[in-house]
Amino acid sequence: MAQTAFARLMLKGKSLLPIVQGGMGVGVSAHRLAGTVAGLGALGTISSVDLRRHHKDLMAQTGKSRDKAKIDAANLLALDREVGAARSLADGKGMIAVNIMRAVAEYPSYVRQACDSGADAVVVGAGLPLDLPELTAHHPKVALIPILSDVRGIALVLKKWMRKQRLPDAIVIENPRYAAGHLGAAGLDNLNDPHFAFPAVLEGTFELFKQLGLERENIPLITAGGINSHAQVRNLLGLGASAVQLGTPFAVTLEGDAHPNFKKVLADARPEDIATFMSVAGLPARAVKTPWLANYLDKEAKLQRKAGPKECTVGFDCLHQCGLRDGIAKSGQFCIDTQLAFALEGDLKRGLFFRGSESLPFGNAIRPVSELIDYLLHDIRPAALQSATARTPYRTSCLPAVEDIDSSR
Ligand SMILES: Cc1cc2nc3c(=O)[nH]c(=O)nc-3n(C[C@H](O)[C@H](O)[C@H](O)COP(=O)(O)O)c2cc1C
Repeated sequence: MAQTAFARLMLKGKSLLPIVQGGMGVGVSAHRLAGTVAGLGALGTISSVDLRRHHKDLMAQTGKSRDKAKIDAANLLALDREVGAARSLADGKGMIAVNIMRAVAEYPSYVRQACDSGADAVVVGAGLPLDLPELTAHHPKVALIPILSDVRGIALVLKKWMRKQRLPDAIVIENPRYAAGHLGAAGLDNLNDPHFAFPAVLEGTFELFKQLGLERENIPLITAGGINSHAQVRNLLGLGASAVQLGTPFAVTLEGDAHPNFKKVLADARPEDIATFMSVAGLPARAVKTPWLANYLDKEAKLQRKAGPKECTVGFDCLHQCGLRDGIAKSGQFCIDTQLAFALEGDLKRGLFFRGSESLPFGNAIRPVSELIDYLLHDIRPAALQSATARTPYRTSCLPAVEDIDSSR
């Protein structure tokens, strides 16, 4: 791959391409995707959520179990294996991060495991990681990267961490207007709030750095959400971002760790197929309105009226606070682990398919990671797509025709 003309992302003294592949659970970014991205000199991220689903032996032991301790142990072992496999694929190049959701019940164990297993960075979203410095104190070489959405959240984390003599090694700024999965806004009504716009957050954060006496070179800012072209990369780096993070465009690459049907659902979705709704984690979320989600949304108000505390339906208690288990009426009322696992397996009827709002760089084509990075950095479009077969980004249905479905992984 040609050298980029953009400045490199510096993290813990390591020089990287200014491209970050965001963490995607359940299982969508595991060792293959993260290791491939890192192998090309960028930052690849493994999502730590329920990784046992990629390991047949661990699923044989725990797939039908309701024993939380056993499931948690299998997931920590799976995380260790995935970090190891990603590192060997990367072969010393780039960096491997582990993404951990603050909202997950076992967040501290995942953080410790990620560090012990040799992750280069820990990236935390879906909540404020105020305690991350203590949790990683024994691993000073691991880069700490919070995911935040506005200047207020960034100020909170910076001030709290500064009291602990620690600074983030970078900050991901994720715009809830465009991003996939859980979104960093208070509710569905705030998603388009102008204070989340990248120019406003970048400018406000640089001002905040000045007020706090921090050198902006020491805390790279990484913008995420809806980035789908070389021109956007150029603009954002021009505004002072040090790198860009993408989720959906990486999820649909050849090396993405989910089933081919998963990639097709994301790649084929039209703007009107993409919905925002409240997740069980109490945060807004964005996904493709597949049959399961459409059906759930039809019944949501009724389910919320009937919400009441109950036992976790799968005995996993994956979230610290779960709208379904804890009977929180304003949150979602479904088992997120079950639905995301169906999506990972390519189950078109029952899966929950997280996706960002914007069209994809290569329309609905599934291409290798190397071509995506080449396009983002150098504006080089894959030769295969320059022919007449190139299609428009959105096609007529979010679901593939039955004959299009490939059941192999
Ligand atoms: C399928 C999928 C799953 C995701 N899961 C997570 C997750 O577990 N944790 C997280 O911090 N972000 C998650 N994200 C968000 C991405 O890491 C990324 O920041 C976001 O998708 C960027 O927006 P884009 O998809 O428009 O590029 C997910 C995104 C997708 C597409």
